[in-house]
Amino acid sequence: NLQVLKDQFGRKHDYLRISLIEKCNLRCQYCMPEEGIPLTPSKFIMNASEIESLAKTFVGMGVKKIRLTGGEPLLRKDFEDILSRLSKLDVDLSITTNGILADRFLPIFKKHRLKKVNFSLDTLKEERFKEITRRSGYEKTMENLDLFIREGFEVKLNIVLMKGINDDEVVDFVKFTKDLPISARFIEFMPFDGNKWDRSKMVSEQEVLAAVGSTLGSENLIALPDEENLTARKFQIKGYQGNFGVISSVTNPFCGTCNRIRLTANGRIKNCLFSNLETDLLTAHRAGEDVEQLILETILRKKAVRAGMDNLEKLSDPNLHSDNRSMIAIGG
Ligand code: GTP
Ligand code: 5AD
Ligand code: SF4
Repeated sequence: NLQVLKDQFGRKHDYLRISLIEKCNLRCQYCMPEEGIPLTPSKFIMNASEIESLAKTFVGMGVKKIRLTGGEPLLRKDFEDILSRLSKLDVDLSITTNGILADRFLPIFKKHRLKKVNFSLDTLKEERFKEITRRSGYEKTMENLDLFIREGFEVKLNIVLMKGINDDEVVDFVKFTKDLPISARFIEFMPFDGNKWDRSKMVSEQEVLAAVGSTLGSENLIALPDEENLTARKFQIKGYQGNFGVISSVTNPFCGTCNRIRLTANGRIKNCLFSNLETDLLTAHRAGEDVEQLILETILRKKAVRAGMDNLEKLSDPNLHSDNRSMIAIGG
């Protein structure tokens, strides 16, 4: 008896993003404060069997796609166990990673049929990588990116653009896709706890398209058809093998077709990236309570656009307490 996870606006939720861990081996400025975040004690983090069991419940309720996120998901010591359990479910599996540890996991991905890998990479310059991520790892990331493309994985790049930091690399990233079968996605910088967001630091969809058009010629810029439940609006330069996309959650949100539910590493549902209402599934599951009912109620309460957070300024202001999390503890 398949239940369909519809919200009050009739949006069907069939894409579950599971954050496996709150830790990361990088410290990206847009994702977390320099000093890090307080970590949930490990006994309150979902273990492999709990992840499997909750995922199974969601799949039974109509989820067709699961994306593993973090922090950095590959830092989970029991990553292979988790992946092997999830690969037995009838679901499309994908992962978002910074790629630094990816080579070690390549055989494991292959073994468990994980083919879709999104790499977070905000610059093609080593020095800048250090500045943005506050760590080293540029060379390894680039090597692994190359490895995964050669090995035939479906690869996408996530590039969070910030004014005065990497906004001069838009065209370089687009050119990077010329002979590569990948999609480079420019993401508008979004406000979360501790990331010092400011509208003036954000590079908009419009600015990205203007930069590409003026350098590569607007006559060469082709808009690709919108995908169902898109996050990125996609474009291609004539003759290029790869394409690029813009994820414009700030200036042009795609909430109307949102099909996404999030499960945090400590087992809470967030029905929107920007929602500070969380439903504690893990505690309910541990107590043997009816989690299906909790899931249905949480999805039903979902708001139309960005959890009703119209005042984006409020979301990253430490004095205004939005009560949302840092991105590192949401998983993107
Ligand atoms: P695909 O399945 O490849 O389309 O990946 P994705 O875009 O769903 O996921 P990914 O983890 O690669 O995220 C890319 C960017 O999109 C991140 O900055 C996410 O925060 C953002 N994103 C993903 N889902 C949502 C969403 O539901 N709402 C908003 N506002 N942003 C989202
Ligand atoms: N704004 C936009 N995207 C972000 N990500 C992390 N923090 C932010 C932010 N503040 C992206 C990362 C990662 C994805 C899961 O979320 O680039 O690839
Ligand atoms: Fe969905 Fe919230 Fe993202 Fe809009 S902001 S697409 S409602 S998760």
